[in-house]
Amino acid sequence: MLVFAKIKSVKQKISSLKKGTSVGFVPTMGALHKGHLSLIKKAKKENDLVVVSIFVNPTQFDKKEDLVNYPKTIDNDLELLKSVSCDLVFMPSAEEIYSKNIKSEIFDFEGLEHQMEGKHRVGHFDGVGTIVKRLFEIVTPTKSYFGEKDFQQLQIIKKMVKKNNLPVEIIGCDIYRETDGLAMSSRNVRLTKEHRKAAPFIFKTLKEAKLKFGIENAVNVVQWVQNEFKKHPLLELEYFEIANEATLQTISTKELKQKYRGFIAVFAGNIRLIDNISL
Ligand code: PAJ
Repeated sequence: MLVFAKIKSVKQKISSLKKGTSVGFVPTMGALHKGHLSLIKKAKKENDLVVVSIFVNPTQFDKKEDLVNYPKTIDNDLELLKSVSCDLVFMPSAEEIYSKNIKSEIFDFEGLEHQMEGKHRVGHFDGVGTIVKRLFEIVTPTKSYFGEKDFQQLQIIKKMVKKNNLPVEIIGCDIYRETDGLAMSSRNVRLTKEHRKAAPFIFKTLKEAKLKFGIENAVNVVQWVQNEFKKHPLLELEYFEIANEATLQTISTKELKQKYRGFIAVFAGNIRLIDNISL
């Protein structure tokens, strides 16, 4: 496994290895877990060469505290990447990516960015768009893999690729969960013991909401979820929304032939967890 920190050297290496081969790319912010590895394994199956980036992107954090506290486990990450036979790792510094100008490009994602995570984390998706576009320019992947864990991010990246005609195929991957249902996340290690024990309540509630959505209207289901969390002593609901999968617009009535998803953000102490479920 080759590890690079400089744009010039990683570009050179990829172009020397690339001729006629497909490049699968998995961008990450490190603190890797089995969710990330499931994307890398899929990329391995579908490509000749797999590139993983590790970069805690400053421009996508709306709270400095969250950026500073983002877990960093680089030695363990590299071991995990070796264990899944990753070919090439790109782990640049912030200066290498942004020089002195740590700023986002401003994007128009045609409204996808104004919902849910975009509403609650101002500027977040401009930061994500900026870094992913930059990484695509450097890595020039054939296919790039994103988890449905961050479903809004996945839709936004697909939109960016389509609008800018970028020569890469975006592959969405299933949410990988702990055995108790909690969606794997780099933030889970920061949960207190109590909050970790409480957190599977999030997916349990999503599954019940899915059942209810089969027989009830969206407004009632949203209210039901809000009430469930009001009763919970440890978890605080930030939002639960039922939205159209393609537009991410919140709905109040169901229409035939449309796909819907329930999206949730919850605070467990000061750790913010997100999840979603196809309805
Ligand atoms: P990060 O949170 O490290 O996630 C990297 C990729 O792993 C994302 O596509 C995310 O959706 C996916 N992922 C995380 N947990 C998952 C799980 N439990 N199951 C399936 N996939 C999972 O998302 C980012 O980094 C950043 O925003 C990034 C795209 C790298 C841009 O900075």
